[in-house]
Amino acid sequence: MSDIVTSEQRGDVLIIRVNNPPVNALGIAVREGVTNALADVGNAKAAVLHCEGRTFFAGADITEFGKPPQSPSLNDMIEALENCPIPVIAAMHGTSLGGGLETALGCDYRIIDRKGRVGFPEIELGIFPGAGGTQRSPRLCGIPESLKMTLDGKPITAARAVEIGLCDEISDGDILENAIAFAETKTEKHVVRDLPVPACDQAELEKVLAAAQKSRRGQIAVENATRAVLASAEMDFDSAMENERKLFMELLNGSQARAMRHMFFAERLSAKVDGLDAQPGSLGLIGVVGSGTMGGGIAMAFANAGFAVRIHDANAEALKAGLEKIRALYLASASKGRISEAEALDRFDRIQPIDSWDGFAACDLIIEAVFERMDVKKAVFAELDAVARPDAIIATNTSYLDVDEIAAGTKDPARVLGMHFFSPANVMRLLEIVRGAKTSGKALVTALDAAKRIRKVPVVSGVCHGFIGNRMLKGYGREAGLCMMEGAAPQDVDKALYDFGMPMGPLAMGDLAGLDIGYDNRRSMVAGEDYEPLASVLQDRLVEMGRKGQKTSAGIYKYEASSRAPIPDPEVDALIENIAQEQGVARRPVSADEIVERCMLALINEGARILEEGIAQRASDIDVVYVNGYGFPRYRGGPMFYADELGLAHVLERTRHYQEKFGPKWWTPAPLLEKLAAENSSFGAWKKG
Ligand code: 3HC
Repeated sequence: MSDIVTSEQRGDVLIIRVNNPPVNALGIAVREGVTNALADVGNAKAAVLHCEGRTFFAGADITEFGKPPQSPSLNDMIEALENCPIPVIAAMHGTSLGGGLETALGCDYRIIDRKGRVGFPEIELGIFPGAGGTQRSPRLCGIPESLKMTLDGKPITAARAVEIGLCDEISDGDILENAIAFAETKTEKHVVRDLPVPACDQAELEKVLAAAQKSRRGQIAVENATRAVLASAEMDFDSAMENERKLFMELLNGSQARAMRHMFFAERLSAKVDGLDAQPGSLGLIGVVGSGTMGGGIAMAFANAGFAVRIHDANAEALKAGLEKIRALYLASASKGRISEAEALDRFDRIQPIDSWDGFAACDLIIEAVFERMDVKKAVFAELDAVARPDAIIATNTSYLDVDEIAAGTKDPARVLGMHFFSPANVMRLLEIVRGAKTSGKALVTALDAAKRIRKVPVVSGVCHGFIGNRMLKGYGREAGLCMMEGAAPQDVDKALYDFGMPMGPLAMGDLAGLDIGYDNRRSMVAGEDYEPLASVLQDRLVEMGRKGQKTSAGIYKYEASSRAPIPDPEVDALIENIAQEQGVARRPVSADEIVERCMLALINEGARILEEGIAQRASDIDVVYVNGYGFPRYRGGPMFYADELGLAHVLERTRHYQEKFGPKWWTPAPLLEKLAAENSSFGAWKKG
């Protein structure tokens, strides 16, 4: 027997122990070991299946997906659990996820640590439970609960798992000892597959389906998962298992599942920086400068993770208003049932206002989130530089400005970096960490550590205008604007990109953010050099007419009072026609395919430059930025993965096509794209030498 699975008999109970760090994924060695152990139960009267380390099985081994299957399969192992002559008790601690939960459902009983969680996160990988989870879970918790877990993918608590019948008992204290004591009382088999499926509550089912259709728009796994779970009440167990397998295999090697697996690993890789050999500094007290939307959100992100935060604003009135807003947001969370009122108030209490810069002297990390102007940022950094401890890290939340220039004004630029949060900062998972030319390894690892502790997905970016995300967004927005001027109605541009999978179209997004932001930015840029004037001339005129977007109830669209729904506006259509005429643009039909292709190619081409310049460490980091910060559909894997899936030869050919059509200014293919296409290679395989 391998070291990964060992067994030992204690009295009448056989203990099958699995030790496959870090998360006891159910790879071939585990499946083989458990199956062998079950084949030899000796004179034991019951068995306990227990995992060492931090968790019970976290699921099938994802690294095996896409490779030739090896026997015994997970289904074979689970069948062996069911066919074992003695009852088997799953001793569940940590996170029992996916195939891990399915394994537990193959056991006769399940005892779960009070802090344990269970779930079917497969949907996040573009699949659904494919080892009997869709058949066994409905027998214990009913179809609506089973489908809810399958489609929303979120783990539930131990208490909830017991309440809905998925687990039998909660364990306080040592899970193994408690499972052994439990096993001593169980001599009868209790096989889940033999239980009937309870009648389905149709109203509950409709609710679950409606929620999934909204939150997982475009994801094909929803349909297959639903069909698999519903079959539990329509077919006998064996036929329904066959049906589950067929529907599962349809997804497993499809493009959506490949993209989502790519994202799973990309999000874990993005926190790793090649050649970085430093230890993080301490992170106790956090300082935040600025109590507006960003500063408030950043303070909440840290307070939510248990950190004590000090917040300061140059303007006492603004600070008071900022804190009131934070309090209101916490209480709103409590009233929606997301956290208890006591927890909301606790979190709020962790954020302490300070009325002078001196209050930052005790902070380990101070993040500035003030007005986006270099002179304002520099003045704040001068104050922080004077009061911060020499070993404290100072970060700017700028979304565009030169971090090196900000750092240059301080005594020690090594402790300065960018921490670019996305709004709302307490909700959005992405954190761009901007490494300046002089940023020390220690400052960088401390920022990465902070990101992990506040449960953000960090991506390290080099210094350039807009860093990874906003720099790429420029070309995307430009092509959307040009397609509109060339002939597509605003709603056609937005619909094309919404149908591609973006949460909203770029023009409606401009209205939401405020058209004046881009307008103000363009005042310090050179038309034709830094941006394409034709792509924003409409927006400029609208701002000058007082139509700044949603906040003025009119922008590219119009809005009814207290509604965010964009309404196409014939006045804007007429304005577009006039501008086109004035600028000598011959309007023509622009198809949805062209809109999507131009916007995507613009993203990809800029992404290639970012990669080649070393601003991003790897292509998958760019994907992480776009999926987590800009709503790029996860099931397409981010723009660089999407390009690799299209094939870089095709991407290059289409980029050249637009270069011929529209000229070289915005369409010259990035040298890296040319090189990789010629080598028949991919962005994913490329590494800067
Ligand atoms: N297979 C292979 N590797 C896995 C894995 C899995 N199921 N789950 C985690 N890992 C790896 C990670 O890639 C990471 O590797 P690295 O250290 O080389 O980067 C390492 O384990 C630790 O993972 P995390 O950094 O994510 O650790 P955390 O402590 O933050 O989180 C966790 C632990 C909650 C278990 C999280 O890893 C997780 O959610 N894992 C995926 C769970 C999942 O999706 N399970 C379903 C798999 S599909 C399935 O079971 C199909 C079946 O229905 C047939």
